[in-house]
Amino acid sequence: MKQITKRKMTTGEIRDKFERDDVVERYTNLATGQIAIVDAAVNLEVLTETAKRIVPRARNVLDIGCGAGNYTLKLLSSLPNLNCTLVDLSGKMIKKALERITPVTSGKVLWYQKDIREIELPKNRFDIAMAGAVLHHLRGEEEWNDVFSKVYDSIAPGGCFLISDLITHANQAVEECMWERYEEYIGRIGGPETFSDIEEGIAREDTPRTIAYQLDLLSKVGFKDVDVLHKNILFATFGGVKKG
Ligand SMILES: C[S@@+](CC[C@H](N)C(=O)[O-])C[C@H]1O[C@@H](n2cnc3c(N)ncnc32)[C@H](O)[C@@H]1O
Repeated sequence: MKQITKRKMTTGEIRDKFERDDVVERYTNLATGQIAIVDAAVNLEVLTETAKRIVPRARNVLDIGCGAGNYTLKLLSSLPNLNCTLVDLSGKMIKKALERITPVTSGKVLWYQKDIREIELPKNRFDIAMAGAVLHHLRGEEEWNDVFSKVYDSIAPGGCFLISDLITHANQAVEECMWERYEEYIGRIGGPETFSDIEEGIAREDTPRTIAYQLDLLSKVGFKDVDVLHKNILFATFGGVKKG
């Protein structure tokens, strides 16, 4: 990742970015996902399909950093009528998610415009917890620990926590190689953002961790069957199960 000395964005600045209409729009395409995310559609598919296989009789889903609702919508297409709990910092993202989700589920839809670090979650409630492209906003170890632990407590026995996110690599040479591959990918898709905009944005906004760090943390807070489901360049999907 580009090394810059500027400070990282505050939570308020991150919220303001995700209140922008052009940013909401970028996260509203269910068929492609956000195209700057390598294999966005594959990650959506793999996360929701594995969630369904792990908890085929799921009733309650938690979508952390729901954005415009892509992960919940995709899940509802194979597990209909779930009760959905949506958490996001951005009111505009939640509004868009509600517009898209409420017509397609007869389940209850609850929403909270809150920081995942601050929200109190019910205990043993959710069959599936999902976090798409959001946990890379967590900063120090304590925040990562607290959020993983809180999500574990909120999941019902037999349920799962599945994460899809930007990741980093432990080895600097590998990290550099992956960034070169990512630059090539961004050039190839020809999306609205240039590689240097994206690189600068990530350096200012995000604090991703390695897959290994997050798998260890999932195990440490109690999850079992911790595994990687998909990985391509700088993006991966992984998670674990809360055993009964
Ligand atoms: C990159 S978007 C991803 C949206 C959606 N999960 C998807 O994959 O399409 C990240 C979302 O997480 C929200 N977010 C960022 N930090 C958050 C936090 N600390 N707590 C709750 N939501 C957060 C943002 O407002 C934004 O809507």
